[in-house]
Amino acid sequence: MLAKVRILLGISGGIAAYKSAELTRLLIKAGAEVRVVMTEGAQAFITPLTFQALSGNPVHTHLLDPEAEAGMGHIELAKWADLIVIAPASADVMARLTAGMADDLLTTLCLATEAKVLLAPAMNQAMWRHPATQRNAQQLEAYGYQLLGPDQGEQACGDVGPGRMLEPEALAALIHQAAEEKNGLANIADQQVASLRGLLAGKTVTITAGPTREAVDPVRYISNHSSGKMGFALAEAALNAGAKVNLIAGPVQIKAPEGVDLIPVQSAREMLDASLSVIASTDIFIAAAAVADYRPASAADQKMKKQPGQNDLVLHLVQNPDIVATVAKHEERPFTVGFAAETQDVEAYAADKLVRKNLDMIIANDVSRTDIGFNSDQNAVTLLWQEDGALVSESPEQAAKQDLAQDLVRCIASRFHQEKH
Ligand code: PMT
Repeated sequence: MLAKVRILLGISGGIAAYKSAELTRLLIKAGAEVRVVMTEGAQAFITPLTFQALSGNPVHTHLLDPEAEAGMGHIELAKWADLIVIAPASADVMARLTAGMADDLLTTLCLATEAKVLLAPAMNQAMWRHPATQRNAQQLEAYGYQLLGPDQGEQACGDVGPGRMLEPEALAALIHQAAEEKNGLANIADQQVASLRGLLAGKTVTITAGPTREAVDPVRYISNHSSGKMGFALAEAALNAGAKVNLIAGPVQIKAPEGVDLIPVQSAREMLDASLSVIASTDIFIAAAAVADYRPASAADQKMKKQPGQNDLVLHLVQNPDIVATVAKHEERPFTVGFAAETQDVEAYAADKLVRKNLDMIIANDVSRTDIGFNSDQNAVTLLWQEDGALVSESPEQAAKQDLAQDLVRCIASRFHQEKH
């Protein structure tokens, strides 16, 4: 069944467009909600009225159609779709999608959507076999688009060969499978979140995230590339585990998860003050922030002026307080988890910090890599802790920070309950 699945059916120019009427009927019959988008070329083969009658929804044909924009504009349409199916997909529309063009409604929607895009190629066999089309097909699959067919067989032009659009029944079955997979993935994500539920019920988790800014003068500061994504993902995962979450965040561009108690700070000293202000009620403290180890000994009151002939400037820096180490030696110390941002001998340096800072766990990441760590959407980490006097390590698969954070919270909660409560 396709109950409530929202399918945006794109129709481009080709004789196979007449089969898309039957495909629309089958999708509606299976319970899907269908909205049709037609290219200029498609309208030469079949009228929008046919699809309006079959889908029960207005057919969208122009990118900046005032009427359509007044209703469901193209961006909302792109967000509305659970799946985008282009059937038939002509050689031209495949080429324009490969180039990332947005010169009509259909290509604009494909650029604007985060939904899965399925394409049912339909064209003359020589056009399908042309290296340009083959290259476009490969590139579209590399983008994550899914090609449905094409089929082999007799063609309207009399040729026989590859390039014939799959029959509506076969397309409907493949669309159903794609919808199932999507629901499956959604279910897996829901299952992951559900598996966290209750792990930290009634507990308070305090997380530091993002960079700190150490003022040089009123307009200049020392900082780093931390985006806050890792810490914010941990905050979301801790919320999913049922915890009350204090999120102490340096200046970042991302939005805090709904439901956290956000405490925005600028400098390391402000981050320390904020951490100590909530320590008494904190059960677990996770220091994901990239705290500046040093700050200017004194920030100038006025913007520092360049002195004529002065070719260099010396800044006298002094050490910042070590926040996580201060928390870890506090008389009301919570279960304390640190991070280690290393560029070499990652696990060795992390193991050293675990002991030196008196931490319960440490999460090590190699920040010399550009695909993980600072300001990236993915991370790859190793968790380290002491168990019965022995160093234990666990390395979850590299993953998106949101997914990795769920694994980390699961591990932290497990150790917390073993160690403390
Ligand atoms: O924010 P993102 O863009 O998502 O990037 C994530 C991250 C790379 C910042 C994160 O995964 C990470 O590694 N955070 C720790 C960065 C850091 O400062 O690591 P460190 O090895 O220098 O510090 C070790 C630990 O001491 C950290 O828990 C840090 O928060 C803490 N620390 C460091 C210095 C200081 N003065 N006070 C501290 O609390």
